[in-house]
Amino acid sequence: MRIDIISIVPKLLDSPFAHSIMKRAEDKGHLEVHVHDLRPFGIGKNKQIDDYQYGGGAGMVMMCEPLVNAIKTLQKERVYDEVIYVTPDGQTLDQSKANQLSLKGNLMIICGHYKGIDQRVRDKYISMELSIGDYVLSGGELAAAVIVDAIGRLIPGVLNDETSALTDSFQDHMLAPPVYTRPEDFEGMKVPDILMSGHAAGIEQWRNEMALERTKQRRPDLFDRI
Ligand code: 6GU
Repeated sequence: MRIDIISIVPKLLDSPFAHSIMKRAEDKGHLEVHVHDLRPFGIGKNKQIDDYQYGGGAGMVMMCEPLVNAIKTLQKERVYDEVIYVTPDGQTLDQSKANQLSLKGNLMIICGHYKGIDQRVRDKYISMELSIGDYVLSGGELAAAVIVDAIGRLIPGVLNDETSALTDSFQDHMLAPPVYTRPEDFEGMKVPDILMSGHAAGIEQWRNEMALERTKQRRPDLFDRI
């Protein structure tokens, strides 16, 4: 998969893909992330990319021309399955959306700033709008990083048995069960006996029960989505 990100603060995206599973995904050739600076597409000597909003009101709006020039420049090179705008008023990303997107070939992600981007760009050039939750970030870059991570780790071949996504929280509308590692006794707290029993079927049943219990307690809403 190839992901192209358009941003006015490309430096914000230097680090998120340079470590851990995202780095391995890139090293193994499963994922390519390219971050493009919007500024060179700006208008005039000052490479302007935003302006006051019509109708008045506080906050700048990202202009059509720089964005559309950047989008078209990328589209000359390849066909994109989705052109995604990250915005708090988009559809909230969930695991099922991440699963769907992980099967795509080329994605473009547009990061907004200030009051957002001119509505006409959204109407004509954006195919999908994604939010990462009901709170507001200063810009789309951190949301884009979250989206790329959530998608990237699901690309076939990125995870191995050790890191398998099959046992993740949400993968089957359930939270994950509690986990333990050494030592067996930590400050008087013991690891549950069943996990020390070597009884695979019993362990699996315990994990299912704990996952169910945890989901009932913490996220009863997840049951409604099955
Ligand atoms: Cl995608 N962008 C911004 N700026 N804030 C957000 C968001 C996105 N998702 C949640 N909050």
